[in-house]
Amino acid sequence: MTINFKDKVALITGGGGSLGRSHALLLAKLGAKIVINDKGGSVEGQGKSKSAADQTVDLIRNNGGQAIANYSSVESMEGALAMVDCAISEFGKLDIVINNAGILNDKSFKKQESSQWEDILNVHLTGSRNVTKAAWEHFLTQNYGRIVMTTSSTGLYGNFGQSNYGAAKMGVLGLMQCLKEEGQKHNIKINAIAPVAKSRMTESIMPPDIIELFEPKWVSPIVAYFCSEECAVNGECWAVGGGYVSRVAIVEGQGTVFDAKQELTADQISSQVNQITNLENAVPLENMQASAVKILTRLQNNF
Ligand code: NAI
Repeated sequence: MTINFKDKVALITGGGGSLGRSHALLLAKLGAKIVINDKGGSVEGQGKSKSAADQTVDLIRNNGGQAIANYSSVESMEGALAMVDCAISEFGKLDIVINNAGILNDKSFKKQESSQWEDILNVHLTGSRNVTKAAWEHFLTQNYGRIVMTTSSTGLYGNFGQSNYGAAKMGVLGLMQCLKEEGQKHNIKINAIAPVAKSRMTESIMPPDIIELFEPKWVSPIVAYFCSEECAVNGECWAVGGGYVSRVAIVEGQGTVFDAKQELTADQISSQVNQITNLENAVPLENMQASAVKILTRLQNNF
């Protein structure tokens, strides 16, 4: 078995940046035709420029691959539809969406302006929704699609000064979990990466000798796997970087069941904190129904 993307068309947002370019070069090397979307501009999302997308397109074409640039912003539905139209008109179809475009605008919650909240949510969460939505109808019609979301350890675990970014990055996982349910019977698979990689976003916060360990090339093969026909997982998030690859999951412990015949008090909760928070034998749950079944199973002696 050799994973390749012959006859596959991919759309990569933020494809002019560090991770996006790396994903694009790998997919192109494996045969994909690619729409490279990138609005350009600063790490905070100010300004725009065609050069980011153009450079990736040039690199792919110079290696004999096929690619076309698109300069829309993921923030608008109009822009997202233009990206998908570009794929259809240039390459005849669309099979893969990699939601990778991103910006940063860090501030402690106390100092954060509403505009800094909105800008980050608009690019990461609404942007991922817009581009996925624009592609969704095509994926349903052709009974095939692969989608990759890009989340972050900030959303998964928290980081000072990044409440806007963390909320947006956790939001894309909520979106993924629901689309996993809606897409699975149409052979649409959606998975997420939580990467660590050298880029303009991380250059100023990681020591130079450490950041060299995290070239984007260590992340892109995981993205390529998620984008492949062979991808065997759906609705998963993997932490990746520098050669490290691991599933990340939200898990639920076995918890405590209180006697239904007695009134539950705050003091009883206080006395059981260790058992409530114990994650021994914790399990990931497949979906909302699995969560309900688990609760009902644990409560069965109370009925
Ligand atoms: P980057 O800044 O090199 O790439 C981001 C690209 O997105 C840029 O080329 C930028 O022009 C483009 N972009 C920004 N706003 C856009 C918009 N509205 N429409 C279209 N394109 C837009 O940064 P990097 O590190 O390659 O980031 C890629 C993704 O990975 C981002 O979503 C980021 O949040 C995420 N990420 C990166 C981590 C890292 O360690 N580098 C860690 C966790 C997440």
